[in-house]
Amino acid sequence: MNIIKYLQSQGIGSRKVCQALLAGNRVQINGEMPPDEIADTATPQRLTLDGENMPTLPLPHFYILLNKPANFETSHKPVHYPSVFSLLPKTWQNLDIQAVGRLDADTTGVLLLTNDGKLNHFLTTPKNHIVKTYVATLKHPADETLCRQLTDGVLLHDDNETVAALSAQLRTPSELLLKIDSGKYHQVRRMIAACSNRVVHLQRTAFGKLTADDLPQGAWRIIQKEEVI
Ligand code: URA
Repeated sequence: MNIIKYLQSQGIGSRKVCQALLAGNRVQINGEMPPDEIADTATPQRLTLDGENMPTLPLPHFYILLNKPANFETSHKPVHYPSVFSLLPKTWQNLDIQAVGRLDADTTGVLLLTNDGKLNHFLTTPKNHIVKTYVATLKHPADETLCRQLTDGVLLHDDNETVAALSAQLRTPSELLLKIDSGKYHQVRRMIAACSNRVVHLQRTAFGKLTADDLPQGAWRIIQKEEVI
């Protein structure tokens, strides 16, 4: 890939800006003057600008696992809270990075971000039944009746189809481990509301094979596609 295109694709700036940076000898790749072409874009290069390390993304596709904190919106145009994308490096803010599905502003946990539209579509298409695991803290202590209701299927408010959890297990009377393979709007909160209880905190602990146990809240890491599916 041409060096200017490469710098642009890393969010360094417009074509004009990148040309000027190169002409001013302000960019280094792997500690050296940049070559005209980057041969291996799939491997993140060590890029410095004015001696400062710039994070780089593998190309053409990258996958970023984020441990989402509360009070961040899964949106490029947030209304009440900052965007989850603001947790990424500054240079990546204007790149085409999308979230795979959405977590509510107050939901924490596993969120995948990517520029791979095809994989995003695959992971969010209901017929592919990607399993999502949640830990819900409940307002009212519950018993096995709640678990049975959830796995038998509940009718969501404003919906005419029942949805059932794959599994529901109480860890304590107020902590529920729930697995679902569909992804309707506010699904977990609505399922639990349909059982006359309420979610006071929700954490997604797994999305398919992905977990974020190794990441503090707000932290992210680049992962391989193979880790996703
Ligand atoms: N279900 C919800 O209700 N909220 C989320 O953020 C995710 C699943």
